[in-house]
Amino acid sequence: MIQSVTVTSPANIAFIKYWGQKNDELVLPFHDSFSMNLSGCVSTVTIQRQQAIKDLTMQSKFYGQTEFSEANSAQLHKIKQFFDFVHQYLNIPSSHGYSITSENSFPHKAGIASSASFYAGLTLGLVTLLEAEISQAEMSMLARMSGSGSAARSIPDGFVWWHKGNGETPVELMKSSVAESIAAPNYWDIADLVVLLTQDQKKVGSQAGHKGAVSSAFFPDRLLSVDERLKTIRTAFDHKDFATFGKIMEEDTLSMHLVMMTQNPPLYFWSGKTLEVMKQVVNLREQGMHVYFSIDAGENVHVICQKADEAKIAAHFRQQPDVLNIIHNDPAPGARVTQLV
Ligand code: PMV
Repeated sequence: MIQSVTVTSPANIAFIKYWGQKNDELVLPFHDSFSMNLSGCVSTVTIQRQQAIKDLTMQSKFYGQTEFSEANSAQLHKIKQFFDFVHQYLNIPSSHGYSITSENSFPHKAGIASSASFYAGLTLGLVTLLEAEISQAEMSMLARMSGSGSAARSIPDGFVWWHKGNGETPVELMKSSVAESIAAPNYWDIADLVVLLTQDQKKVGSQAGHKGAVSSAFFPDRLLSVDERLKTIRTAFDHKDFATFGKIMEEDTLSMHLVMMTQNPPLYFWSGKTLEVMKQVVNLREQGMHVYFSIDAGENVHVICQKADEAKIAAHFRQQPDVLNIIHNDPAPGARVTQLV
């Protein structure tokens, strides 16, 4: 019997984003989304069986910390519910406890998808520990059901498409919303430079934020226009047309943030520093550079460019007084088991 599993699992950046849930309980998005796994933003998650106790413990070491800290009861409760769901789904009784340790190579809860990398790692770790044989699509579905829907996109390799799913019954719907790789990491030499402006944790998590999306007067407009963006970006991706790809990606970020800022209560994730980086990206473009931004639920900015321009663009942002650090990311593989005991 496997006693312990370690998984490394990437965060991902969505080019077409997921915001709002059609069904909270089943973590179903209103539309498809499309992302890339990030080589420089990785969680390492270890799950160990505990024979003596039937409890769950978790210790985490976040970016910049030297010591592990214990998870609080709310975090443990969420994980426990998820573990119970996975056991139930796999039809394996949960007869003992688990101790979890997790480490992140990047700031936590700062708009860099730390919950996606963590929950994807947790899902692959638990399913491996339980020695259940399931497909990658099913693994992504389970990761989605953690509550952090975008964790589904951190399971497959490289460039990933998450399908919104369809079906008549709740079970059909639950099973049909899965993520799949549409290209390996080496398909396209693009880079994501995370321009780090803060390491502070955001006050409102994505899960609370998704619930408010439908209250925005701009949400119907986002839903009307997103399918066209998905279609156009897919064609641009297939043709490696970086200019169209970047333009659509930026439009989608702005569309999502318009919804966020106009939902009730409103969510303003940008700071003045965020806006400054966005403006500089536009300025660099006016000077002829091929560079675009993407922003998730946080203040930090993802600056996306072609690999050939990466060093020059990183050097530009490194000089800026507000920039704490630049995290370099190439397209990366999905979650994988690195150790089994
Ligand atoms: O998966 P969640 O619940 O952490 O939501 C992710 C939301 C965004 O990061 C803002 C967008 C996305 O598609 O990654």
